[in-house]
Amino acid sequence: MQLGIDRPLTALEQEELASEAYDSYDAYLNRWPKSVRQWGPTNAVEWSGEGVWLRDIHGRAFLDCLGGYGVFALGHRHPRVIAAVKAQLDRLPLHSQKLVNPYAAEAGRRLAGIVPGNLRKSFWCNSGTEAVEGALKLARLYTKRPNFVSTVNSFHGKSFGSLSVTGRALFRDPVAPLLPVRFVPYGDPAALDKALDAETAAFIIEPIQGEGGVHVPPEGYLRKVRDLCTRKGVLMIADEIQTGLGRTGRMFGVDHEGVVPDILCVAKALSGGVVPCGAFVSTDEIWTAYHPMPLFHTSTFGHNPLAATAAAAAIEVIVSERLHERAARLGDRLMTGLREQWRRFPKALSDVRGRGLLIGLEFVTEEAGVRAAEGLFARDVLVAHTLNNPRVVRIEPPLIITEEQVDLLLTKLSSTLESLDR
Ligand SMILES: Cc1ncc(COP(=O)(O)O)c(C=O)c1O
Repeated sequence: MQLGIDRPLTALEQEELASEAYDSYDAYLNRWPKSVRQWGPTNAVEWSGEGVWLRDIHGRAFLDCLGGYGVFALGHRHPRVIAAVKAQLDRLPLHSQKLVNPYAAEAGRRLAGIVPGNLRKSFWCNSGTEAVEGALKLARLYTKRPNFVSTVNSFHGKSFGSLSVTGRALFRDPVAPLLPVRFVPYGDPAALDKALDAETAAFIIEPIQGEGGVHVPPEGYLRKVRDLCTRKGVLMIADEIQTGLGRTGRMFGVDHEGVVPDILCVAKALSGGVVPCGAFVSTDEIWTAYHPMPLFHTSTFGHNPLAATAAAAAIEVIVSERLHERAARLGDRLMTGLREQWRRFPKALSDVRGRGLLIGLEFVTEEAGVRAAEGLFARDVLVAHTLNNPRVVRIEPPLIITEEQVDLLLTKLSSTLESLDR
């Protein structure tokens, strides 16, 4: 396949390229499990994106309500991020790692400007799982305690450390042993109280469990978590990789309860939807753990100028366009419409929940969820189930989605549910 094609393809080229992509995927990459490939082979090859729209190789446009599992908060190819990244690409895409890197410095300054409380110092990496790895290491370094506590059904990533704190046996067991971690039910402060002891370095928590099936904790839970961690000298790590940067209608998920964690992890939307990027942020005090040896935690591509530029531009867009407020407003409209559909189709849907533009539709069976996702796909809407809970279909569109596009989604969902009902 020729790379960097920047002209329209002929019909023949589209066919050839699509079938070549299928063959090479099967030959050289992981086997892809149950997916849109079963729903229409030649339509499932992605080609371009703009705003809320993702186009396949034949030019079919999908309303992207999966949003890259949270990556496309700004939609596809946001013009301000693209312009900044293009300029950076032409000047210095990667860094020397010796001289002072002004792009990472600026990204760090902007991130410190939006995270809660006295969180300030950050380390920049390329993915969510790396952000969690760094946070876990920092917690051990600072507390000098070995163990961690996490929640049942959580998702924090799939490298060894982050997988250790991920609450799903399916992914953990085949590669055990992992780090010493205890799991407590999500939303249960009494269980947490029992689990935290003098050997616990940190408790890691998603302000809303995303991949677990979009579970919003009971009101006051995050504040109780904060108090328990403080009382027991345990660090609170907020994994905001999916909930952060405006997704839930506030800048961060912890902001709904005015809680300041000790370490906060971000990724996904931090990329601006353009260059993979992640970071963990902590306080000056906790950061002193690196003082004896700043090289305790490094990564060749960490702090790279291209990603830092994308992140700095993304933060600027979120703040200046007030996308968190937009997520709250459009999320309310979407939630109202979805609840109405739940009332109309109780045989298909068993719950609708979420916050802002992170919404889960729980179906009565996994089969019903798969058929709904398939029906939406047939109607040019892209969604997917949550990783740890296949009965839940996530609705996670770009935060730039308009009222009309929210209504379009509702119309298409309604016709999908009607056809399931028959
Ligand atoms: C809450 C949370 N933490 C961590 C991760 C892992 O991020 P990544 O896939 O970039 O490694 C994810 C990914 O879905 C996530 O939702």
